Amino acid sequence: SCLVGYMASTSKAPLQTRNLPWVEKYRPQTLDDLISHKDILSTIQKFISEDKLPHLLFYGPPGTGKTSTILASARQLYKEKEFNSMVLELNASDDRGIDVVRGPILSFASTRTIFKKGFKLVILDEADAMTQDAQNALRRVIEKFTENTRFCLICNYLSKIIPALQSRCTRFRFGPLSPDQMIPRLEHVIQQENIDITPDGMKAIVTLSTGDMRRSLNILQSTSMAYGKVTEDTVYTCTGHPLRSDIANILDWCLNKDFTSAYNQILELKTLKGLALHDILTEVHLHQHVDFHTLWQIFLFPLLLMFHLFRHRLASGTSEKIQLSSMVAAFQAVRELVVSEAP
Ligand SMILES: Nc1ncnc2c1ncn2[C@@H]1O[C@H](COP(=O)(O)OP(=O)(O)OP(=O)(O)O)[C@@H](O)[C@H]1O
Ligand SMILES: [Mg+2]
Repeated sequence: SCLVGYMASTSKAPLQTRNLPWVEKYRPQTLDDLISHKDILSTIQKFISEDKLPHLLFYGPPGTGKTSTILASARQLYKEKEFNSMVLELNASDDRGIDVVRGPILSFASTRTIFKKGFKLVILDEADAMTQDAQNALRRVIEKFTENTRFCLICNYLSKIIPALQSRCTRFRFGPLSPDQMIPRLEHVIQQENIDITPDGMKAIVTLSTGDMRRSLNILQSTSMAYGKVTEDTVYTCTGHPLRSDIANILDWCLNKDFTSAYNQILELKTLKGLALHDILTEVHLHQHVDFHTLWQIFLFPLLLMFHLFRHRLASGTSEKIQLSSMVAAFQAVRELVVSEAP
């Protein structure tokens, strides 16, 4: 069926590397290729070699290797020609209602395998999208076919999986990747692809991808394709983030100009660069990479808090111009405070 077809296309297609997105081209093929969560990997490796694989539940933020880990495990468990008959993968593009449990999952799990000892594997990627009903139905299916089928549930949010399912599985949390883990992998790709990148560019990619390896590879690929050279500026521009220098300017205007000119200059920059106020605030909030005068540092925290509030108000959709003017005003109120408190 088409469900099995998906599996075949992701895991067995010959790696014709030319036009492949790098996240696929450099998807780890074996458990050894994965760069993080060594404890999880060795535990799974042990389960496999002792032939005692339990039902699994992988959870954690995007791009941390959950799907890659189960695909690599499956590749280790099954020979290529067994794959289609032994592995069923369902992902977000498949229906997540109860019908999929009563239909494809049930029929896959209940079909006997003629030649093979050992169990079949059902991978339920993005299982947090399953309805409650489906999860409840699944729990009986898991129980009934434990003899010859293992389930691997994958999700971002553990809380969306009903407790009865959680307790049937061995849980593994895939945390965000650390820069130490991401950088060597990125360097490998950079070398393979002959990328021209500056140290600042690398730093920007790592900062912006917040432990999500998929995002880091996507940023690397799109920036180098769009701009050739990967620098801090091209990374920020490519991802639609305001540049560090833009942020520095905005803060400088808020702090050092009168209200009207600060407001107008920010507005002009916003229009020129197509920046959203929300993005500007996020940037200041996230990176705080502007060198403040020491006195300002004291006020950085309340300022950031204020930014945070503004971001929420923006999200609820008030006019940007009104928000911009209140941002400038608030900033300048803090400035007055700093000035009056200055020794
Ligand atoms: N631990 C890792 N080691 C090496 N590469 C990784 C790792 N984690 C992620 N990647 C890279 O990121 C891509 C996406 O990883 P994967 O699909 O396994 O993430 P995921 O945890 O399933 O994310 P999501 O929750 O969004 O489905 C992979 O193709 C691979 O290139
Ligand atoms: Mg995944």
